[in-house]
Amino acid sequence: MRLILLGAPGAGKGSQAARLGRKHGVPHISTGDMFRDAFEKKTDIGIRAHGYWGQGELVPDDVTCSMVEERLESGDCSSGFIFDGFPRTIAQAEMLTAAMERLGIEVDAVIQMNVSRETILQRLTGRRVCERCGANFHVKNLPPAKPGVCDYCGGGLVRRPDDERDTILNRLRVYEERTAPLVDYYRRTGKLVDIDADKSVDENLEEITAILEARS
Ligand code: AP5
Ligand code: MG
Repeated sequence: MRLILLGAPGAGKGSQAARLGRKHGVPHISTGDMFRDAFEKKTDIGIRAHGYWGQGELVPDDVTCSMVEERLESGDCSSGFIFDGFPRTIAQAEMLTAAMERLGIEVDAVIQMNVSRETILQRLTGRRVCERCGANFHVKNLPPAKPGVCDYCGGGLVRRPDDERDTILNRLRVYEERTAPLVDYYRRTGKLVDIDADKSVDENLEEITAILEARS
């Protein structure tokens, strides 16, 4: 399975990609997670990228594309992948199309997760993330069994640093300007399917699963 999840911040890309990856046994590739991990490890890329994502700006295409190209060529991607948060600019989409052509592979579907602005703000201000394993929760929509504690590993739950209101608003502005044009790019390929991502996590998972089954 080769899938791209497109959508604004808070659309639910990470929530769906994690579930689909576990269900289908394919890697969930989140460029946002890769940048956050690299920052924690204090690598050069991690430190450079933090200057951008910390402000809600996009990391430059050359940094992002070389990181993804390396990831795409690693062994576990031979069974497929789910991209979450990549591509995010037309230049990134063109790089991905060219890299896949070189590898002789095609994407099965591109899911555009459409979501309202109110839902985005409610989801991102209430999101909590496990600082140990990265699992996602929400104070109202998906609360952990014990407040502030991860259900999976017992780690502490924290807010993502870019989930402050002003940074969220900047991420939304950047999304409209730089990422929204990808909808037309992928619609022209005939691979794009729109879903209503204001629905529940389970409803969206069912819908994406049905789309994939119809295409397999
Ligand atoms: P990234 O980590 O990709 O962040 P994002 O795109 O802003 O998206 P989010 O992770 O905030 O939202 P999501 O759609 O994954 O929603 P989630 O499932 O978590 O990128 C971060 C930064 O890194 C970027 O700003 C940029 O700087 C940089 N970056 C990353 N990729 C890049 C690239 N390709 N190029 C350049 N720079 C890049 O859900 C959110 C919350 O809502 C959770 O609490 C969840 O529990 C809840 N929720 C989810 N779905 C539902 C539902 N259906 N119903 C109810 N609650 C739900
Ligand atoms: Mg995410």
